[in-house]
Amino acid sequence: MNEVQTIAVISAMREELAPLKQRLNIEEEGIKGGFLLSIAHFEGLRVILAVSGVGKANAAACMQQVITLYRPSEVINIGAAGSLNDRLQVGAMVLVSESLYHDVDCTGVGEAPNTLPRIPRVIPSDSGLIQQLSQVAANLDLSCHTGRIATGDTFVSDGERRKSIRKQTDAELVEMETAAFAQIAYLNGIPFVSVRSVSDNADGEAEISFETFLAETSERNARLLDTYLSVQAQQLQPVS
Ligand code: ADE
Repeated sequence: MNEVQTIAVISAMREELAPLKQRLNIEEEGIKGGFLLSIAHFEGLRVILAVSGVGKANAAACMQQVITLYRPSEVINIGAAGSLNDRLQVGAMVLVSESLYHDVDCTGVGEAPNTLPRIPRVIPSDSGLIQQLSQVAANLDLSCHTGRIATGDTFVSDGERRKSIRKQTDAELVEMETAAFAQIAYLNGIPFVSVRSVSDNADGEAEISFETFLAETSERNARLLDTYLSVQAQQLQPVS
């Protein structure tokens, strides 16, 4: 028997995953290793939805749990992010082309800034996934950008911090999980990409903006993912 194709979609918060979950028919759900995991079948495709919790340690542990349990052929992260670039406004959707940590410093032991030993400073996302998701977004008339994201264990809500992260990393967005997801995917050799929609500008208004726009950004991400999953499922159907 052929192994079923599995795609995992992972978010830090339940709210970020909720609109996609509502669109799927969840058949099984439970907490494993502390993480809420839900399973749906989308035509011939198995879809794993995982909620990691916020921050790098949660992201890494959940990603490894999902990979170990289900061996997905790809993992996609969806969520919100703060914008570091004045040209990316609230609501903008970004396919993350690469990620790095803004709060890692091993320069004292000879590493480049923002770099962990034996891990690339900047971890590229899977180019095939970016291409396929861009195509789906274009077909849906969803405007979307590509760009670099900076990850750290801080909710950035201060204009000076925003500027300094932008200067140090040259990233378009900031959030709290993507580089950790990407690092674990990289170590396991699993294709990975993150889709992040801007909920705030990582400045003094960030908290209120995040709370106001989280649901809207999650809805937009879900539209893209729902169609993407359906395209993937159709491609699995045998041609007669
Ligand atoms: N996720 C969404 N907005 C964020 C911000 N301003 N800082 C960190 N993570 C975020």
